[in-house]
Amino acid sequence: MNTVAHQILVQPTVSSRLLELDLQNLSFGQVFSDHMFLAEYHDGQWQSAQIIPYGPLPMTPATSVLHYGQAVFEGMKAYKSPIGQPLLFRPQANYQRINQSAQRLCMPPVPEDLFMAGLLELVRLDADWIPNQSNTALYIRPIYFANEETIGLRPATRYQLAMIACPVGSYYADPVKLLVSQNYVRACVGGTGAAKVAGNYAASLRADQEAQAQGYDNVLWLDAIHRKYIEECGTMNLAFVMDQVVITPPLSGTILPGITRDSVLTLFRDLGLEVEERLISIDEVVAADRAGILKEAFGMGTAATIAPISQISYQGQDMRLPPATEFQYANLVLDKLEAIKTARVPDPYGWVMKL
Ligand code: COI
Repeated sequence: MNTVAHQILVQPTVSSRLLELDLQNLSFGQVFSDHMFLAEYHDGQWQSAQIIPYGPLPMTPATSVLHYGQAVFEGMKAYKSPIGQPLLFRPQANYQRINQSAQRLCMPPVPEDLFMAGLLELVRLDADWIPNQSNTALYIRPIYFANEETIGLRPATRYQLAMIACPVGSYYADPVKLLVSQNYVRACVGGTGAAKVAGNYAASLRADQEAQAQGYDNVLWLDAIHRKYIEECGTMNLAFVMDQVVITPPLSGTILPGITRDSVLTLFRDLGLEVEERLISIDEVVAADRAGILKEAFGMGTAATIAPISQISYQGQDMRLPPATEFQYANLVLDKLEAIKTARVPDPYGWVMKL
């Protein structure tokens, strides 16, 4: 064992599993790298920061997250530059968001130096796990949850921060088919929709499962009050191109403030393209489709990157989008974003952190 800056104890694995990795067949979230970062919060302090071989975390059935769901998480990606240097995309944004989510669930803030030191050390140690074929990355999943042994309902006094990493390929292999959910809602004003809390995803599973049983990939969520305005799709934010304008729902407090969403809108605006962040009703999308001005619909997310949408079903009617190869805006921004993330072009935004 050796110790690095910020008092992270590092215990490297004695037998790497890297040779078992099939780089040609990477799916999403099935294979985990050699190490994980852990830190604990108790007695009012962060402590026991360590990087150890990936493996199980001990907990008892009374661990509070299992009962009341105080759990938040993040997702970010590491890439390799053309000369093999490890790169992280906008890790500060993930750091800020994990604490916004934590605040919503009454969890103590994670210190920036602890989060960044753990992240950088983990990625350095497992840098050989960063794939470099197109559409691949090392996905890093920070998770933060209550692990006090109590079933009393109150904010816990003990927490676990963990970071694991997995080499991934595309989240969606094909263009995405969405079913507009009419029976369920994802979030309401005052709820947790803008926080990356585990419960949001658990609550979406029933609707997704019903959509999948009908041949769709995921649900397109509408707002909880009017059941009319487009929110997001759970795995990603959404954008539509109508009449050469990129339109996306505003950050109203009920959708996730996506880091990919923010990057995409910045790139579009800097390319001189028209972007509107505003309410967009499902009726407007239907009308645009009928009028022939709905040119593109795509999702934006860390896991999904830019995912073209091929079909949206609403009230039994299917809207079919043009083939993804014809999506000029989505393909343009995907290429630009991937080039920045992999340092193939200069990064004027300071988004890429080189390790
Ligand atoms: C991500 O895009 O990073 C997410 O956390 C979404 C998840 C459904 C994979």
